[in-house]
Order: sequence, then structure tokens, then C-alpha cells
Amino acid sequence: MTDSQIHKGLAGVVVDYTAVSKVNPETNSLLYRGYPVQELAAKCSFEEVAYLLWHGELPDSGQLSDFQAVERSYRTLDDNVKRVVDDLPLTAHPMDVLRTAVSVIGANDGQADVSTPEANLAKSIALLGKIPAIVAYDQRRRRRQPIVEPRDDLGYSANFLYMTFGEVPAQVVVDAFDVSMILYAEHSFNASTFTARVVTSTLSDLYSAVVAAIGALKGPLHGGANEAVMHVFDEIGEAAKAEEWLNTALAEKRKIMGFGHRVYKNGDSRVPTMKAALDTLVAEYEAQDLAELYDALESSMTSRKSILPNLDYPSGPAYHLMGFDTLTFTPLFVASRVTGWTAHIMEQLASNALIRPLSLYNGPEERHLP
Ligand code: ACO
Repeated sequence: MTDSQIHKGLAGVVVDYTAVSKVNPETNSLLYRGYPVQELAAKCSFEEVAYLLWHGELPDSGQLSDFQAVERSYRTLDDNVKRVVDDLPLTAHPMDVLRTAVSVIGANDGQADVSTPEANLAKSIALLGKIPAIVAYDQRRRRRQPIVEPRDDLGYSANFLYMTFGEVPAQVVVDAFDVSMILYAEHSFNASTFTARVVTSTLSDLYSAVVAAIGALKGPLHGGANEAVMHVFDEIGEAAKAEEWLNTALAEKRKIMGFGHRVYKNGDSRVPTMKAALDTLVAEYEAQDLAELYDALESSMTSRKSILPNLDYPSGPAYHLMGFDTLTFTPLFVASRVTGWTAHIMEQLASNALIRPLSLYNGPEERHLP
């Protein structure tokens, strides 16, 4: 084995087939089951997109209402999930809280190890219903606000916002949130999805794979970037200071959160759609200062480094305007991406091979104890 066989970070390595989504950096496009994500964001709800990712086709109206009824039936948290969350310190990162709560949900499921396609689909829909309840419960607990019970007369996004804030916001806000959920839902073999597939390839259960994927998503080079973008905005403060801040950060060799992508080198295909959603929120909340800071940092970054924004750049400030705590941004990514993860888990199981790469040893030569 030689150095040239090493593909650090698996860059450029094709691991398997997938029919879930296609990322095409050359044409700057992302297709879910063949549909451009921009079209899905314009014409479908997040529930329809979740159904599409799992079933391969969009639902008709009867299939959609059956699907929604099942998802709505899972929106209430079990008491022991609440108790475990309550026992965690208020300082615990919401990603750690969510990872722990999903683990408890898995332990509650007496059928956790049953991994037929039907059983895994049922677990996936249950997680779709329950994760918003965990995220909302945790944000309210940190704010010392009482729990808000779910409403089954509301769609996924309206209910998510209702459970978090105690009221349904303006329709433009619900729509922007729904768009973000659609855009975050799936992105081929990204780090967290690959993590889920690695765990699944050992024939472990769906919950274990999702818990591992949550851990992978937490890092700031992946999903944690939407939270990190807001910390950057807070650090800079105002548009007039963006250029100077960037010069210092680049001189210190810092990675600028919300910019760059392993696959897209000419721009993330999801950014224009999320930026349009952010613009509606800027108008709704009259947040011109934030918009100016956004533009100033983007134009300084593109002129200094020619590195373009990724989806986390517009979604971070969008979630901020909606009223989410900055620490809650990455759990919102989980709420959406659990659909893609579980679609990949089911696809991995359908033609499984244990994922077990090789390594080139560079430690000490063989030696022996005296
Ligand atoms: N800030 C500053 N420099 C950057 C950035 C950035 N955000 N992204 C890439 N670069 C530079 C690197 O320093 C490197 O420069 P060099 O060749 O002079 O050393 C070059 O561009 C290539 O960067 P790599 O990190 O090798 O590219 P890679 O494909 O491994 O990284 C990544 C992709 C991890 C996303 C990177 O761009 C990054 O760290 N971005 C910031 C974190 C972020 O926003 N993550 C979100 C990802 S998208 C998502 O999860 C929705």
C-alpha cells in the first residue's frame, strides 16, 4: 500500500450508489429523487418532501393526509423523555440534549432492533413527529417557559413554531421555515449521512444510526456552522466593521463559518432559495441592519477569497429573526435532515455491505516487551 492510495477525508471517493439525491456541482443543482430542490421549495410542503424522500414519489392528496395523520400522532413526548431532558443541565448544548432524547426514544421502543423496511419507515415518521417537540421543549425549558402542547390542526412547520413560541407567527415566517426544512432535508453522502450509513452497515438499529449522525452534524465544519454564523455576526456587530473583521480573521487563519463547501466550488445550489426566504423575513421584521451585515461580509469574503456562502450562511440569520436561540439552530437542521438520514439508512439496508475502509500504518516498527 502507498501514500497515493490515501484519500484524506475520503475526498473524491465514490463509496456507493444512491437514488435519494443527486448533487451536481457542475450544473449547481441538487435533485431529491429527481426533482430540483428549488422547485420542491416553491411548490411543496416539507411533509410532501419527507414523503418523497422515503417513498421515492410525491404523495397524492389521500397519501398525504394519511401521512400527516401519522406524523401528527407522534408530536407528544413520552414522560420519561421529558424527565431525562429535565435532568440535564440548562447549560447543556441543545444538540447534546437532542442526541440524548433520541437515544431515550430508541430505548423506549421495544421493536428498536426490528429493521424491516416497514418498521424503519414507521420509526422515521415517529422521529419526524417527535424531534420538533424535543427542540421546542428544550428551548422553552432554557427560557423557563411552560411547555406548549402540540396542535394537530397545524402543518409540520406551523406546529413546530407554535410549540416553540406559543403562537403561530405570520404566514411568511411559517413559509420561510418550511423552505429551510426542505433545503436542509437531504444532501447525498455528507458527513452525518455517511455516519448513519456506516452505523447501519453493521446492522445496528435506526436509532443508533440517527444518534451517531446527530453527533456528526454537531461539528462546526458541518451542521454546527449555522450556529457559528450567528456568533460571527454577533462578533462583527455591524456592516461597517465586516471588512476589518474579515481581514483579521483571515490573517489569523480562521475558517469563516457559512462559507465554502466540499462539493460545491461555484456556489451552493440551495443558497439563492434560502436567501430569498431570508429577504422576506428581513422585510417582515424590519431587520435592515442584519441584511447589511450579511451583504457586507459576503462581498468582503468573495472579493478576498472567492469562497461563496453555503446554506448555513442565510439560514443562521433567518432562524435568528424567527426568534430561535442561536444554540437551537443546529437542532433545526437535525429536525429536517432526519428525513434524509433515514432514507439513506433504508437504502443502505436494502443492499448492505459492511463499511470498513483500510488504513496505512505509520506508527513504530514491530517491537517487543523486554
Ligand atoms: N474560510 C476560510 N477559508 C476557507 C473556507 C472558509 N470558510 N473554506 C475553505 N477555505 C480555504 C481553506 O483554508 C483552504 O485554503 P488553502 O488551500 O489555502 O489551505 C481552501 O479554501 C480549501 O479548503 P478546505 O477546508 O480544504 O476545503 P474542504 O472541501 O475540506 O472544506 C468546508 C469544506 C469544511 C465546508 C470548509 O469550506 C469550511 O470549513 N467552511 C466553514 C464551515 C462551514 O460553513 N461548514 C458548513 C458546510 S455546508 C453544510 O453543512 C450545510
